Amino acid sequence: MTNYVLITGSSLKPLASKLSKCLDVGLCKIEIDEFANKEIRIRVLDNVNDKIAFILQSTNYPAERNIIELCLIADALKRNGAKKVVAIIPWLGYAPQDKIFRDGEPLSSEVVVRILESAPIDEFAVIDVHSKLVLDMFKKPVRHLSAMNVFIEHFKGKLDESWCCTALDDGAVERATLFARKLNLNIAKFDKTRNKKTGEVTFHKLEGEVKDRNIITFDDYVSTGGTTIKSCEFLKEQGAKKCVYCITHFIVPETFEKVKNSKIDKMLITDSIDWSERDIPGNIEVLSIDTLLSDFVCKYS
Ligand code: R5P
Repeated sequence: MTNYVLITGSSLKPLASKLSKCLDVGLCKIEIDEFANKEIRIRVLDNVNDKIAFILQSTNYPAERNIIELCLIADALKRNGAKKVVAIIPWLGYAPQDKIFRDGEPLSSEVVVRILESAPIDEFAVIDVHSKLVLDMFKKPVRHLSAMNVFIEHFKGKLDESWCCTALDDGAVERATLFARKLNLNIAKFDKTRNKKTGEVTFHKLEGEVKDRNIITFDDYVSTGGTTIKSCEFLKEQGAKKCVYCITHFIVPETFEKVKNSKIDKMLITDSIDWSERDIPGNIEVLSIDTLLSDFVCKYS
């Protein structure tokens, strides 16, 4: 008898079934439907009394609905006797809005964290969250997991000395350095500036050589694709050969087409957001974070 139950929200059903297979534990029965006016109706059907309840839910589009759904599931679990509720949120919606970028803006990520913390969730787990600023906004315990090792495992023993890692901006230096060290590769550093109004990005070389090198870059998320697509063009202008990107969260479906038509040789993404119903272009491959999550649950429970 396990001392925990696994519950999925609407956003990550395929990943939840993979996780339940890894853990050899069935998913907790729950009804998620709607009232006549489209408000969310939740009902937990299994016995969760005295169990640790892990809820899996990314708060991607429709973020507001997925956030409320997660809060309602947590409430239902606690009212049904769950000993502890742990929300595993692979993609934390609004996390990129971790600062006031322009006068007049809200601090959106903090608002979202406050909403989530108002639900009876005892602990959170997030994956490759955009910045430490967001982690610091949590008042309740939060575990920060990374998909980096999922990519490292994929490339283990496959990259020779013709490969080099890049940090595309200042914020990426720490994780890029760790990624390069784990792959035993050198690193080239760049600086990125983004027009705060249009979102347009430009790159400048800081240090390291990319000429005649194959490039592998690890980044937390792709939204418009501006950073990856522009950096690939820039790297190839500098003489780079293949450009491969390892991206934990791919958050905008329209960007699939842009990546397909770009110079990017390969982009590896994860199933932190469910794209199983979408046509994925040939230069994109999806790796699962199921083992990362099963390790987390096993060590926890
Ligand atoms: C930057 O700090 C992030 O890590 C991403 O590189 C970036 O902001 C992704 O956004 P987009 O795809 O719109 O360039």
